[in-house]
Amino acid sequence: MSRTTTLLAGSDPAGIAEAARILRTGGLVAFPTETVYGLGAAGLDPEAVAAVFEAKGRPHTDPLILHVESAAWLPRLCGPIPPEAGPLADHFWPGPLTLVLPALEAVPRLVTAGLDTVAVRSPAHPIARALLAEVDLPLAAPSANLFGHISPTTASHVLRDLDGLIDAVVDGGPCEVGLESTVLSLVGERPTILRPGAVTPHDISRLLGVEVAEDAATAGPDQAQQSPGRLHRHYSPRTRLILIEDEDDCRAHAALREAAAEGAALLLYDEDAAAPDMEPAGRFPPLRALLGSRHDPAGVARGLYAALRAMDEAGAHAIAVRLLPPGGLADAVNDRLRRAAAPDEEL
Ligand code: TXA
Ligand code: MG
Repeated sequence: MSRTTTLLAGSDPAGIAEAARILRTGGLVAFPTETVYGLGAAGLDPEAVAAVFEAKGRPHTDPLILHVESAAWLPRLCGPIPPEAGPLADHFWPGPLTLVLPALEAVPRLVTAGLDTVAVRSPAHPIARALLAEVDLPLAAPSANLFGHISPTTASHVLRDLDGLIDAVVDGGPCEVGLESTVLSLVGERPTILRPGAVTPHDISRLLGVEVAEDAATAGPDQAQQSPGRLHRHYSPRTRLILIEDEDDCRAHAALREAAAEGAALLLYDEDAAAPDMEPAGRFPPLRALLGSRHDPAGVARGLYAALRAMDEAGAHAIAVRLLPPGGLADAVNDRLRRAAAPDEEL
């Protein structure tokens, strides 16, 4: 269905009020969160939720996250509530942690994709919070991109994908984190990370005093059903991504130079860009973008999706990028890079 998409200012209370009005009447509004922009709909209204799937071209087998103002909503959406949920919500909410919990009947089947669990998160972004307070409803909100494309971290990214398909976008500037939330399942034998993000396994283990299972990196195709976001090539640019895994600088630089010689654009960390063996050769230096320091994964995460989109739109036929040294938030960055680089047939 085609719609006229209005750009609303997140800094203006009238913009928030209008966004809330649209959402209460079943419309679709993209809004900023601290991770990425979400495409919001009234989360307990099956028709509004159906429209989200239609706008994104998202298969109904892929469940949505319900965004809530606070943990006070949990007893209306989930039950029985696992004992870890309270401490996790107290400590990490509002923030980039999504909890997968047993779902109550009140949650539409479309939201859960027919699973008996529901994913819930309380976002930290002040505009998301103002909107949740104003609508006074849980908002179902996947990332505000076309299915399979890169998540948006600015309002203009949202418009690139969804202009004419949704009712409004609330502009709140660039997102602070830049990668989707950590998804943590609390329904199995032990807490399990389904998608790595800014809240790390270490953060969670330290709070709960138990080891957290991490199966995101090793998820095979049959586990995709459990958290379909782990489908390979879920976060992909249109352009082929060449992933350089070598931790040795000399060999990694050689691989980057070789990719550039074959016409690939380069996504470079500051240290690599400044290395003497990375001086651009010839009169036409390769198309490139800087991702910040290799030792600042938070900075890399913040700018990664914008850089991938920019290289995509500049018409590069391939993009070469190194993995970060592993650990903490770098694992989430590497997870997204690996997915973006996975071959087509793994979609
Ligand atoms: O940071 C984020 O989480 C952003 C912002 C907008 O909040 N949202 C987001 O939504 O990334 P989406 O739909 O793009 O990703 C939701 C992820 C998917 O990997 C989905 O499979 C998983 O959460 N998920 C949702 N419900 C689930 C459930 N019941 N069980 C397991 N995984 C679930
Ligand atoms: Mg998404």
